[in-house]
Formats: sequence, C-alpha cells, structure tokens
Amino acid sequence: MVKEPLDKSGRGARNHDVYAPRDAGKESGDSGFTHLPVLAAQVVEVFRNHQAQSGVIVDATVGLGGHSQRLLDELAWIHIIGVDRDLDALELAHTRLRSYGSRVRLTHGTFSTLAAAVAPATAVAGVLADLGVSSMQLDDPERGFSFRFDTPLDMRMDRSSGSMTVSELLESVTVEDLTRLFRQHGIGSLSSRYASAIKSALPFHTTGQLGQIVLEATPMRLRHGRIHPATKVFQALRVRVNDEVGELTQFLPTAFSLLECGGVLQVISYHSGEDRLVKRFMRLIETGGCLCSPRLGCTCGATPAGERIVRHGFVPDDEEARANPRSRSARLRALKRTRSDVSGVIDRYWDQVATWQG
Ligand SMILES: C[S@@+](CC[C@H](N)C(=O)[O-])C[C@H]1O[C@@H](n2cnc3c(N)ncnc32)[C@H](O)[C@@H]1O
Repeated sequence: MVKEPLDKSGRGARNHDVYAPRDAGKESGDSGFTHLPVLAAQVVEVFRNHQAQSGVIVDATVGLGGHSQRLLDELAWIHIIGVDRDLDALELAHTRLRSYGSRVRLTHGTFSTLAAAVAPATAVAGVLADLGVSSMQLDDPERGFSFRFDTPLDMRMDRSSGSMTVSELLESVTVEDLTRLFRQHGIGSLSSRYASAIKSALPFHTTGQLGQIVLEATPMRLRHGRIHPATKVFQALRVRVNDEVGELTQFLPTAFSLLECGGVLQVISYHSGEDRLVKRFMRLIETGGCLCSPRLGCTCGATPAGERIVRHGFVPDDEEARANPRSRSARLRALKRTRSDVSGVIDRYWDQVATWQG
C-alpha cells in the first residue's frame, strides 16, 4: 500500500506507487466524503482533443481523485501523476484509484515543488489544477476550515509542513494587515470593522468563535443574507495561511514549462482573484508577453508560446450547478503549448507578474 517516504521536496513527502486492481466505482471512494468533480466532462474533452505524445497527465490537485478517475476511465491512452499537498487527500485518492494499478502514481508535493514532485517526468501531455479546497477538507470538522463546526482554527491543507495555523496567524498579524487581506478578498467597507473585532477578541481558538465574532460585528441588516457573513473572512484566512496566491503564481509557469509541445494546461478556479491571475498568465503566453501598443504594432520581438482553448473558458451549465452547488463559481481555462522554447516568455512573466498583484 503506502510505500516508504520518498521526499522529493525535502518536506517529509510520502510517495504512493502501484496498486492492485479493486473496485473504484463509487463517487466517494471509501472515504465517506461525497465529491463530484467540477466541469469534469469539459476537462476530459479538452485532453481528448489534444492527445500529446507522452500520454502522461499531471493532476496537480488530485484531492479525492475525482477528476483523475474520470480521466482514467475515459482516456485509455493516459497515465496519471497525482500530486497533492494534503496527506489525508492522498490516502483517499490512493483508495479510490488503486484499481488502475501502474496507470497512477501519487506523490506528496505543492505547486511550488511541482517539477520535483513529478520527476523524472519532464515533458507531459497535460497538467490539471482544480484550485481551492476539497469537500473532504471542508467537511472534516478536525481540519478547522468551516464555521459549521466548533473546532480549532487550523485551515492548513498540509498539516505535515509545520506552517502557521489560522489561530497563529491571527495572533501575529496587525489590524492593518488583516484589513488589507479582507479588502483583497472583496469584503469591502466591513474589512476594518471585522479586523478590529477579531484582534480585540483574541485570544480565541475555534472556528465557531471566529464565526460568531464576525457575525456580531456585522450590521444587523446584513446578518441574514443568503451567504453567512463569515464566509469571505474564512476564505481570506485560508488563502493567506496556505499562501494560495504565491503557490498559484509559481504553479502557472512551472506547469506550462512541464508540457510537451502540443500539451495542454487546464485550471479550474473558484474566485475572481485566482481566475484573474490564470487569465493574465494565459494571455501573456498567447501574446508572448508583448506590451507594445496594438496601434503601433509589436516592436519588442515577443513570440507567442501558446494558444488559449475557448477564449473565455468554460463554466458549469444549469444542470451541473444544481447537482453540485460547489461548482457554481467555477471557471475552467485551458492553454495549449505551441513552442518548444518557452524560456523567453517565462522570463517576461516573472518581469510582469509583480505588477499584477493587489
Ligand atoms: C478542489 S480540490 C481537488 C479535487 C479533485 N479535483 C477531485 O476531483 O477530487 C483541491 C485540492 O488541491 C490541493 N491543493 C490546493 N493547493 C495546493 C497546492 N498549492 N499544492 C498542492 N496541492 C494543493 C488541496 O489539498 C485539495 O486536495
């Protein structure tokens, strides 16, 4: 089953390899967590239409193995390298995918260590990232992702990393930092009110307490909307504690560089902040990073290195949105690599990306 640790990232990683055949038909595997992979039909179709040589697809957010299972069932020519930063998720993916034997290799790693995690593979047919948290992480009270339970405020996707929990983060940030974070996550004029209420209520350590503090800091007329007032606060803290912006910033060029020519990168995002970064990255690759005025024409010698597949991406139809409410805010974007040398355009990305944030 789970083999000896094989630490590619230097962070106590475990590697899971080849498994004997077994039933893997259930949507939830043996985990007890129900999970419907979002926009799965579209993900499969894009890879089907861009069958590249190696046949290796990296599922960089293997999670509960939902997308991987669908891809393995529908595309007989592929092998999957499944990566996740969450060891609990890898255990569940292992159970769900073991019937596919040597077609699957599961590895512990993060976006920022992706190249090491998928080594020795260096040129793959596809990379998929389904961003954010899984239903398992949200629904497991012990993980501290949700105010539906009253449990320690943790929210780390990788509890083996020794990184900061939300509880520790709240102790260490200033009211100004917290206000800025909330503003970046669309909390608007209530940002400083929430930040002050949270900081002055410390010390507290549970999700239930944080939910209650935010609720009490919310003006009465806004307390009973469709969405709980603490939803965005929890999302902002989760994004910060897992460095999701930094991870995505690293992931995009790394994943694109891993593709063989003709291979495809697919990314599903769930909020405008991450979708904006994905869109800008894909546009940069398509234009070669050219910043010349369209009126005067390009004089900088930029060379396009990819092509977007479906310009505005895919969103769930009504049927999927009804069947799987988590999919409602999802957008899938896909980009095909069209050049073998992408080093120039990746350099341009690193020059430009710092000006995109905030
Ligand atoms: C939305 S879930 C993926 C669900 C999966 N597609 C499925 O169908 O079961 C996102 C997963 O990505 C993982 N993840 C998020 N950020 C990551 C990162 N920077 N590096 C590696 N894994 C990450 C999370 O731990 C989580 O398991």
